[in-house]
Amino acid sequence: MERNGTCQVVVGAQWGDEGKGKIVDVMAERADVVARYQGGANAGHTVVVGEDEFILHQVPSGVLHRDKECLLGNGVVLDAAEFLDEIDLLESRGIDAAPRVRVSNRAHLLLSYHKALDAAKEGHRGARAIGTTGRGIGPAYEDKVGRIGIRVADCGEPERLRELVEANVETKRGQLRLLGADEGDVTPKGVLAEIETWRERLLGFATDVSQRVARHLAAGRRILLEGAQGSQLDIDHGTYPYVTSSSTTAGGAAIGMGLGPKFLDDIVGVVKAYTTRVGNGPLPTEVESPLQEELREAGAEYGATTGRPRRCGWFDAVVVRYAARINTLTELAVTKLDVLDGFETVRLCTGYRASDADGGGEMDEFPANLALLERCVPIYEDHPGWGTSIAEARSWDDLPRAARRYLERVEELVGVPISRVSVGQSREQILER
Ligand code: IMP
Repeated sequence: MERNGTCQVVVGAQWGDEGKGKIVDVMAERADVVARYQGGANAGHTVVVGEDEFILHQVPSGVLHRDKECLLGNGVVLDAAEFLDEIDLLESRGIDAAPRVRVSNRAHLLLSYHKALDAAKEGHRGARAIGTTGRGIGPAYEDKVGRIGIRVADCGEPERLRELVEANVETKRGQLRLLGADEGDVTPKGVLAEIETWRERLLGFATDVSQRVARHLAAGRRILLEGAQGSQLDIDHGTYPYVTSSSTTAGGAAIGMGLGPKFLDDIVGVVKAYTTRVGNGPLPTEVESPLQEELREAGAEYGATTGRPRRCGWFDAVVVRYAARINTLTELAVTKLDVLDGFETVRLCTGYRASDADGGGEMDEFPANLALLERCVPIYEDHPGWGTSIAEARSWDDLPRAARRYLERVEELVGVPISRVSVGQSREQILER
């Protein structure tokens, strides 16, 4: 197959919320096409352009560049109502999104019954709840893997669509009943009416995205693939079951776009200079109060989708080294370094010490067994803080020596070079090395 263009992938290398939106935003400058390949409206990509802040959940953040084509691949679960609202919102703020955005006709639809089931299942799990975003992601991917999902292409076949909805509604009502939840509007008529509000309009965005990408690559264009969530939320490689339901790692980019893996050139892992996580599940370097609150306030660590406070901790090199391996990261982008400005000492976790019951040895690999993970303790290295604001830095050399040392140690521990560092929200505050 002919290929003259290039493909760059951006993935989160921690638990999501690494600031991929702003890295994608600057990288998009040099791309022709920006695409999303997994996840749904659970993502919240915040980008600041001048005085304006945009939070995008479903449309790729590259849309803020007026000359880029934006694609949503087959791996995405599409909340069509949210998607179209976002397009309208962008247009109302002067961004001509509609002519430039296309959706795979193989992407699965995420309907309101998926959201109802997400809430019902979380309620049912009680203390074992995952802490999902409530956007229906798990139930939508369950339908896809269970081979009963409804795809964008089905919107063009009203009779088939009706049959699929009827078959699905029956099982969804049964599931909701079993979980003790209200079946409400989940009737064939209600669901078909929901789809009808956007069906025709959505078809106007539908295309064969895989074929379109192949043509772009043959024509020498540059594609930027924008991951959502992070490696530790990957359905296979994350802290299962406290994960999302898609492949957030780089391999997911090939599957979710209909693109051969040989065509992925650069794989950029985005990491915060520390660690955060929303939702439940292990977070080895999580810090105690009052440091927890200090980090949260300094970094404004509240979820972009749900507003939930994020749990905070120090940078965990075990997590990022693991992400480097499973994604074959070729470079790192470190965000929010400025958040650490006010800390006298900054810590880096270099490994974990297993509990005595588990042999007490040092672990430098992230374990699959979450019980083992919960029993081990992080091994820290302390570094002096830089004690000054770095918000005005515009190049690597502008950074104080202590900050550079900290970054160099991160590189050493992870084994991947740092190519970009962000020291604030705006485009100029992303330093290229
Ligand atoms: P779900 O994707 O809504 O099913 O949520 C599953 C887990 O992934 C929960 O712990 C969520 O908090 C987390 N999650 C989902 N999307 C994001 C995101 O964009 N950033 C950070 N965490 C996320």
